[in-house]
Amino acid sequence: MSRLIVVSNRVSMPTPDAAQGGLAVALQAALRESGGLWFGWSGRTVEEFNGSVSFEEIDGVRSAVVDLEPQDVDEYYNGFANRTLWPLFHYRIDLAKYNRSFGSGYERVNKRFAEPLHVMIEPGDTVWINDYHLIPIASQLREHGVKNRIGFFLHTPWPPTRLLVSLPYHERLVRTIFAYDVIGFQTEEWLESFLHYCVNELGGSVDGEYVTVDDMTLRAVVCPIGIDFKNFLQASKTKAAQDLSERMRVSLRQLSMIVGVDRLDYSKGLEERLNSFEHYLNTHEEAHRSVVLIQVAPPSRGQVEQYQHVREKLNEMAGRINGAFAEVDWTPIRYVNRGYSRDELTALYSAAKVGLVTPLRDGMNLVAKEFVAAQDPEDPGVLVLSRFAGAAAQMKEALIVNPYAPEEVADAIQKAMTMPLAERKRRHQALLEGVRTQDVHWWREKFVNLIEETPHTEPAE
Ligand code: ADP
Ligand code: F6P
Repeated sequence: MSRLIVVSNRVSMPTPDAAQGGLAVALQAALRESGGLWFGWSGRTVEEFNGSVSFEEIDGVRSAVVDLEPQDVDEYYNGFANRTLWPLFHYRIDLAKYNRSFGSGYERVNKRFAEPLHVMIEPGDTVWINDYHLIPIASQLREHGVKNRIGFFLHTPWPPTRLLVSLPYHERLVRTIFAYDVIGFQTEEWLESFLHYCVNELGGSVDGEYVTVDDMTLRAVVCPIGIDFKNFLQASKTKAAQDLSERMRVSLRQLSMIVGVDRLDYSKGLEERLNSFEHYLNTHEEAHRSVVLIQVAPPSRGQVEQYQHVREKLNEMAGRINGAFAEVDWTPIRYVNRGYSRDELTALYSAAKVGLVTPLRDGMNLVAKEFVAAQDPEDPGVLVLSRFAGAAAQMKEALIVNPYAPEEVADAIQKAMTMPLAERKRRHQALLEGVRTQDVHWWREKFVNLIEETPHTEPAE
């Protein structure tokens, strides 16, 4: 196994409280095994960028991070990454901002990352870049003479060509992807859109897994991410999980619970979800005083105005629906703006009869997989899943819905609430098998192997 260099905007180091996401844990394990390094932004700012790198080693995992200056953060993270690419990649060109300073800030920061990074890369290292923040970094590394195998994994969707061409300089961005040897997508759908762009906009050709544009060839594959299944099961046995389970038992009494857990992001379809729940309440009198929706949604990317708007909108909607339906001894929606530890999340998921995962567009959606992992196989809850989440490509035994259609989602809630035990068990067993076997370790090994077995070829002169 060669040494692994992982690069992502955020770097996650091991923490004593084990409150870490599955992705962080899986990447840390790979870094430990290979003696590798995790490189990225420190999350901090300095008055003026100075390129100095801070190294750290915790529990056998090494990291190297750099600080950025405020203008970098505005133009790169809050700008091009989260005001331009995030909405565009989630098919929301109505929300995408195309501002030249964002584009140049994005390229500048990728260049700034590549400068210290290329010095750390040794011959034989395998380099793995993650996500939309860092698309052009491989082309920067190549300019520094890096000849290693470099793979890129996109955690978000890849948009259809008709939307992507709304991005000024789209060709310039996509051409930089050919500096990689491998690109990984969560689903066939995003891969197909990427290939469609390469063929129709760049005049490329596709041969099996390989796509060629001019003299540059890239291997493009599907490799869906999973959760850290074993760890997730262990998390449900901790004291924090059991304490919250007990609190939920007391507070729910006879209520049937529906759960939603999401970052507060417009891509998660939270407004549409509350509309659907309102429709369910309007059409199911029997749910009054017997059903509760617990929606956990911690604020995210608060500097970006679209996120401020979705936050205001949800506050307003939750207040209005509760005002219209609540009684002195019942509130239909418990809307909670904070995060919970993974241990506590297992308790929330397992207390629910229904998991409502209804994004308008999502690269994968790990909450869907966590919900399934947390269910009691003898009395499992039912997953209601948007057809527009990457997870729907794998989780066919969920109740698949169109999140834009409130009546359809309300019908699915009703079906889930009244589903016979035998059908719940059958669906859950099939879903669990996928979540258990295609976990985050499976994903990480598969993607690293793909990079390791794909030789780097230099474009012809
Ligand atoms: P995204 O990467 O867009 O946020 P995912 O569903 O793929 O969406 O992953 C979200 C991760 O963040 C999951 O592991 C989930 O448990 C975690 N998460 C989401 N909401 C919360 C919350 N309220 N508290 C704690 N963790 C959360
Ligand atoms: O799924 C996309 C993603 O960028 C993840 O990589 C990240 O954990 C999550 O969204 C949160 O976003 P941010 O790092 O901007 O808070």
